[in-house]
Amino acid sequence: MSRTLLLNPGPVTLSPRVREALLRPDLCHREIEFSSLQGAICAALLKVYDLDATTWAAVLLTGSGTAAVEAMLTSTVPRSGRLLVLENGVYGERMSMMAERAGITTARCATSWESSLRLAAVEAQLEAFPDTTHVAVVHHETTTGRLNDLHALGALCAARGVDLLLDAVSSFGAENIDFRALPIAACAATANKCLHGVPGVSFVILNRQRFARSGTPARSVYLDLDTYLTQQERGGTPFTQSVQGFYALNEALAEFADAGGQAARQQLYRARMRQARATLSGLGVEGILPEADCSCVLQAFRLPAGQGYEELHAGLKARGFVIYAGQGRLAADIFRISLMGDLTTEDLARLAQAFRELLTRD
Ligand SMILES: Cc1ncc(COP(=O)(O)O)c(C=O)c1O
Repeated sequence: MSRTLLLNPGPVTLSPRVREALLRPDLCHREIEFSSLQGAICAALLKVYDLDATTWAAVLLTGSGTAAVEAMLTSTVPRSGRLLVLENGVYGERMSMMAERAGITTARCATSWESSLRLAAVEAQLEAFPDTTHVAVVHHETTTGRLNDLHALGALCAARGVDLLLDAVSSFGAENIDFRALPIAACAATANKCLHGVPGVSFVILNRQRFARSGTPARSVYLDLDTYLTQQERGGTPFTQSVQGFYALNEALAEFADAGGQAARQQLYRARMRQARATLSGLGVEGILPEADCSCVLQAFRLPAGQGYEELHAGLKARGFVIYAGQGRLAADIFRISLMGDLTTEDLARLAQAFRELLTRD
């Protein structure tokens, strides 16, 4: 089977070990074997950032990353609470939409997609609305590849007793997340990005104490985290889960630990990205953000003058690589690549060669 390598921001190219896990025996989600599988995954997810199970809980959902983000927002902000959503890309904007549709009292603090978070504006909003209970922010804003800086934001929130809701869908497992220093109430993420599982399973890491303060607002039947947490703690689950997706995530987490965990994955992605960035820079193709502002997971590059995205995508696909378009108003100007998943040094050398063939101008 010839491999098409996925350089989009998830799903990722699976390792043989994770792919084989999909073939394990059929299993009913009401059986003891499922309960053990679920418990093992929850424990392994906490281990990714070395979190203590008395303070934190992982809640597993069947759904994509969006389900985890929506569950996080709708299950944590109390009915009497107020949410401030920080936006500098598509995924921050999507969180505002989710919160507004759920009837949560929401304010937005937006900057342009190319900009970092405006902390002075966040501070002004928190001063203007001292009843704000939660701030929601995207860690790695995949729209541009920017890694939003959480430290100053966390300090600002902590000083006011405001809890953080983190969309870490495209950073969990690779980027540093300081769960101890930041006032994180909940962190939403997914199986099929930096953890290298299959699509269809997502999760929310809850701070038990902060979550208990939410008063379980239960704005949804399917996405109510309190229902999941209560039943998971008894070894159950409220609804049919993606059993095969769970098998794959469990194996992906074992592979992740064997490979050295989060620090090792971050190093691996950084090395891969440095190589790709150097190749592209040598061809006159530059990133849209300074490297220091970028995640190790995905970066966005400006299309050279006269180079259409579709043509570049087709040329790379013919050579076995799938890249990703820009979103919204960036669609005509940029392309994005992510270097997650089961890639070898030979794959990366072939990618560099493919870029040289397609982008060399004489
Ligand atoms: C930061 C971020 N949040 C949320 C999502 C939505 O995830 P999904 O497409 O799995 O629903 C993505 C997807 O790329 C993302 O990058």
